[in-house]
Amino acid sequence: MENKVDKNVENREISEEVFALRKEYTSACLHREDLLPDPVAMFRKWFEEARKAALLEPNAMTLATADSRGFVTARTVLLKAYDERGFVFFTGYGSRKASQIAENPHAALLFPWLALERQVSISGKVEKISAGESLAYFLSRPLGSRIGAWVSEQSKTISSRRLLEEKFRSLMKNFSNGEVPKPDWWGGFRVIPQTVEFWQGGENRIHDRFEYSRTSPLTEWKIERLQP
Ligand SMILES: Cc1cc2nc3c(=O)[nH]c(=O)nc-3n(C[C@H](O)[C@H](O)[C@H](O)COP(=O)(O)O)c2cc1C
Repeated sequence: MENKVDKNVENREISEEVFALRKEYTSACLHREDLLPDPVAMFRKWFEEARKAALLEPNAMTLATADSRGFVTARTVLLKAYDERGFVFFTGYGSRKASQIAENPHAALLFPWLALERQVSISGKVEKISAGESLAYFLSRPLGSRIGAWVSEQSKTISSRRLLEEKFRSLMKNFSNGEVPKPDWWGGFRVIPQTVEFWQGGENRIHDRFEYSRTSPLTEWKIERLQP
């Protein structure tokens, strides 16, 4: 039964087109001796390489969150800071992702650096960053983005785009002196890494995968090669 070809799938032209999409990964290997002992330092090395390779938005990452029932959602957000404490993004604290994080503080991040045949995936607990850290970033944003944060009740429904544009115009007038305070419902989250995996595509689907995971004491990391 398992070895029988499903004729329905075989006959659908669209499937054949998708089946035919295939790329061999040949650009590099990742060896154990290439790894730095600390995953954040290793991330910095790869992130700088992604930046130098002029990838489109190398700081764009997929964020996956789940609610208390285990229903999962994923979306793209932008990495805005990272250090030994973790990986920071900014968002609406009333958004769907924020509600899920409130119910279940575990999340995953994925950087799909496909042009380099690489991905980095991170999992860990999420915490809100301090209001002071959020404010520092908020004040660095262009005026339109600062006002945009006031306009959107992120993830709520709305009947038309026009309502958002009207709200934007009216807030532009209210904040015509350029002093836009940070809304309380907007700020950053930090994903504190528990595991960090570096993946480099390899020939014949024999990819290189190395996973860092925290051991106790918490500052130490174990590194293991995973099967592709
Ligand atoms: C390239 C790109 C970057 C994005 N960056 C952010 C971001 O930094 N913060 C954010 O809240 N949403 C960002 N978004 C929008 C999110 O993907 C998402 O639509 C929004 O946060 C609402 O998600 P939620 O309803 O699951 O909470 C970005 C989308 C794209 C495609």
